[in-house]
Amino acid sequence: MTSQRPDTARGFGPPVVELVAADYAYEDGPPVLSAVSFAIHEGRATALLGRNGGGKTTLLRLLSGGLRCAPGQLVLEGSPVRYDRKGLTRLRTTVQLVVQDPDDQLFAASVEQDVSFGPMNLGLPEEEVRARVRDALEALDIAGLRDRPTHLLSYGQRKRAAIAGAVAMRPRVLVLDEPTAGLDPHGQERLLDVLARLRTTGTTIVMATHDVDLALRWADDAAVLTDEGLRTGSVATLLARQELLDAARLRKPWSMAVTEVLTAGGLLPKGAAAPRTPEELARWAAPGHFGPSLAGSGQDPGSGPGPSPNGLPGPAGQRLSDLS
Ligand SMILES: Nc1ncnc2c1ncn2[C@@H]1O[C@H](COP(=O)(O)OP(=O)(O)O)[C@@H](O)[C@H]1O
Ligand SMILES: [Mg+2]
Repeated sequence: MTSQRPDTARGFGPPVVELVAADYAYEDGPPVLSAVSFAIHEGRATALLGRNGGGKTTLLRLLSGGLRCAPGQLVLEGSPVRYDRKGLTRLRTTVQLVVQDPDDQLFAASVEQDVSFGPMNLGLPEEEVRARVRDALEALDIAGLRDRPTHLLSYGQRKRAAIAGAVAMRPRVLVLDEPTAGLDPHGQERLLDVLARLRTTGTTIVMATHDVDLALRWADDAAVLTDEGLRTGSVATLLARQELLDAARLRKPWSMAVTEVLTAGGLLPKGAAAPRTPEELARWAAPGHFGPSLAGSGQDPGSGPGPSPNGLPGPAGQRLSDLS
């Protein structure tokens, strides 16, 4: 397994944290990752995609110091991580992992006790711990659950409490392993709102998922794990590459598949970008949205159905609005 590193070509600064040429195999097991490099840049939202068993969780645990690559290196702000107490504290105050199953993360009797554990362990003054817990509970929208026993929380609430525990460490990089798995649609939307809020406060987020639609909607960048290695790049570019999706055993995001069909059928101008969010899709209906691109479409406005009021060409006399 090898790795491509187009990040510097994309004009980013030095990564906050970076795995360099990392190998990993579990005891007596086959190699899970070979020569994988993965750089996390400040302020970006990255979706780590790949099939089940492809190595996403392993990669996130290497990145957050729970596992140690051999050979290879974990580099934090330019210097290699040392896996002693001091080195790991430095790593964990910068990078925080939230594991997939909240029951593997929560252990204290109440939400407040659980969320305060990390900051208390850093030896912070009580006032500071209290402020961090309050902020983390507010950020996750669970301030009302502060005194609730963790075993009485719903699954979605337990997920939020687990994320709050990581947020209370005020990490620069929050690493989430399949955070939306097991949540109902409303729970997923609420979680995406929380992540959007954390991003506005400057948190860099990495999320493992096999949900390509979620990745296209949420992420700036994608990192796609295949048996050939890790491919990184902008999410819209990578998820449009069919051979990469096949290699990672992923399907194409719905909006890209629909955009391709509409473009092939002449209902959208060539090169129309797939909408990444419902809001972007709604903009298609705005008057003149596709207007300028019609110039090169070969349509003669004087004959046939011509462009629709919203600028969509209609070769069979159809417009998108006729297709319902
Ligand atoms: N604790 C473990 N011990 C041995 N093998 C493991 C362990 N955890 C994961 N694996 C194996 O490593 C591979 C990658 O697993 P994982 O990183 O969990 O993939 P993903 O998160 O993409 O589903 C799989 O073949 C899995 O069986
Ligand atoms: Mg996993």
